[in-house]
Amino acid sequence: MKSLDDLVVAGRTVLVRSDFNVPLAKGSNGTRVITDDGRIRASLPTITHLSQAGAKVVIVSHLGRPKGGPSAELSLGPVAVRLGELMGVPVGFGNDITGPQSQALVAAMQPGDVVLLENIRFDARETSKDQQERAALAAELASLADLFVSDGFGVVHREQASVTDIALFLPSAAGRLVHTEATVFAQLLADPARPYVVILGGSKVSDKLGVIGNLIGRVDCLLIGGGMAFTFLAAAGHPVGDSLLEPDQIDTVKGFIEQARASGVDLLVPVDVVIADAFSADAATQVVTADAIPEGWRGLDIGPKTAALFAGQIAQAATVVWNGPMGVFEMAPFASGTRAVAEALAASNAMTVVGGGDSAAAIRLLGLDEADFGHISTGGGASLEFLEGKTLPGLDILKEP
Ligand code: 3PG
Repeated sequence: MKSLDDLVVAGRTVLVRSDFNVPLAKGSNGTRVITDDGRIRASLPTITHLSQAGAKVVIVSHLGRPKGGPSAELSLGPVAVRLGELMGVPVGFGNDITGPQSQALVAAMQPGDVVLLENIRFDARETSKDQQERAALAAELASLADLFVSDGFGVVHREQASVTDIALFLPSAAGRLVHTEATVFAQLLADPARPYVVILGGSKVSDKLGVIGNLIGRVDCLLIGGGMAFTFLAAAGHPVGDSLLEPDQIDTVKGFIEQARASGVDLLVPVDVVIADAFSADAATQVVTADAIPEGWRGLDIGPKTAALFAGQIAQAATVVWNGPMGVFEMAPFASGTRAVAEALAASNAMTVVGGGDSAAAIRLLGLDEADFGHISTGGGASLEFLEGKTLPGLDILKEP
């Protein structure tokens, strides 16, 4: 892959594709507040490098999945403000994406200036299945710049105008974030130091079928927590009460259990769970063994014995990948399992990789120090597809011939 260091950028306009798809909440006065700016901070090395090297930096990103055109809720306006705060310089904002206002803004830029364009998905051509439609938008974006830098790792699994088609029109290179992320994940696929332990959580097993299938046979130990664990417990014949369950995945999960046994992989599921009588922070709770969840109760976290079991596996590992929380960590009574896993990773001397927005958010929400983790990925779906062994179109376009 070409990198930033292969580009001569001084005085040139560089279009940077970032992933500023950040969580937003309503503030007290009706404004929208960014609740986790991790993806913006992760984009700074590329943007700062380009700006300091005298490039005019035009950034394009999506936010959410807008339906039917522009909306105030999904405007990138708050991101432009936050980016300016983090960089300590004002960031211009191109309201109409590739329209006359943005064109004038870009034409007036001086070397070092930074402009963010409005949510690219407000233009339906960005996500069109029709390549010609996407290419038409990519050509408009390209007319604003001389070079393209791909730095939105979270979106490299998408075939979209500003992610893939743009490379048809401009000389392209990987930004610092994409380069780092791609290097880390390629290493995990090619030659991870062993023992190699992967911890998967999150609510749905159906989101992780591909990754589980590809990891069994590559890892030494697979630890399953979060809502998806209950489909594994059901597959083992245990009652799960009102816990999250995907009945149509039980046979697939039985297949995984069999596959793991045949390939000598330790596939560990919870041995105890924290259950509650309602999905609420105020619910009555108790800890039960994983084969004894009563009717009317639901599991919302792994139990203390499971947390210790998982932490023990992490402590012995040379490579650890973690994707997905162990429970409903946003509610204090169900945060202990996620905290225990995060703390075990933080204390480990292994190469540790945290993937998926939820796990990264958990680390920050639980007040842990990001510096204690080897690599915190900004990619959710992208990091999973990488681990599945899939070709990621947004990386493919950056490969040198
Ligand atoms: C993400 O949040 O995983 C990325 O920004 C990609 O978003 P998408 O799933 O809407 O394409």
